[in-house]
Amino acid sequence: MSSSADAAAGPRVAVLASGRGSNFESLAAAFRDGEIPGEIVLLVVDQPGAGACAVAERFGIPWILVRGRKDRDAFDAALLAVLREHAVDYVFLAGFLRILGRAAVEAYWGRILNIHPSLLPSFPGLRAQAQALAAGAEESGCTVHFVDFGVDTGPAILQRRVPVLPEDDEDSLAARILREEHRAYPEAARRVLSGRVRIDGGNP
Ligand code: GRF
Repeated sequence: MSSSADAAAGPRVAVLASGRGSNFESLAAAFRDGEIPGEIVLLVVDQPGAGACAVAERFGIPWILVRGRKDRDAFDAALLAVLREHAVDYVFLAGFLRILGRAAVEAYWGRILNIHPSLLPSFPGLRAQAQALAAGAEESGCTVHFVDFGVDTGPAILQRRVPVLPEDDEDSLAARILREEHRAYPEAARRVLSGRVRIDGGNP
């Protein structure tokens, strides 16, 4: 954790993203508008040219590329160095396509959030919307959850639901879910950073 001087200014958050960054944008707007205590001090991307970088520039948030490494431990070490350098307290994954390794999850246990486009535990992993359609689900949605050592397995903070319509394809369902994601992530962040929700059980 950062010093008590930093704590007085509120939690310091890093967002990790790989793509267009629309969830990052919804979070950045909510922090800017004072809806969530604390501030986003850094965007970390693992893909050069991620759309999220343009969002960061619009909001005046510094961003940094941590280059994708094949070795998860090496990536973790590089990421942790960056997070420590910026005295980051919380890590929000927002469309980040890498799986964090044990070292990163342990270092930030209970302080890493992720958003996933399904009602977990249904349809974890890639292409969750396509999975929901293939399964004939009548309802889907999104889940904001704490990150643990599994993939999309950590304790849920909140979910928002949408119907799956007969005429849906992957894109139309993804768009409907995404609208709910943009409400869910700021609300979940507000609950966690204002101390209303925390992961049960203390340490990993
Ligand atoms: C979202 O659907 C999120 O749930 C998933 O990846 C997508 C990222 O979209 N983890 P964006 O980059 O935030 O627009």
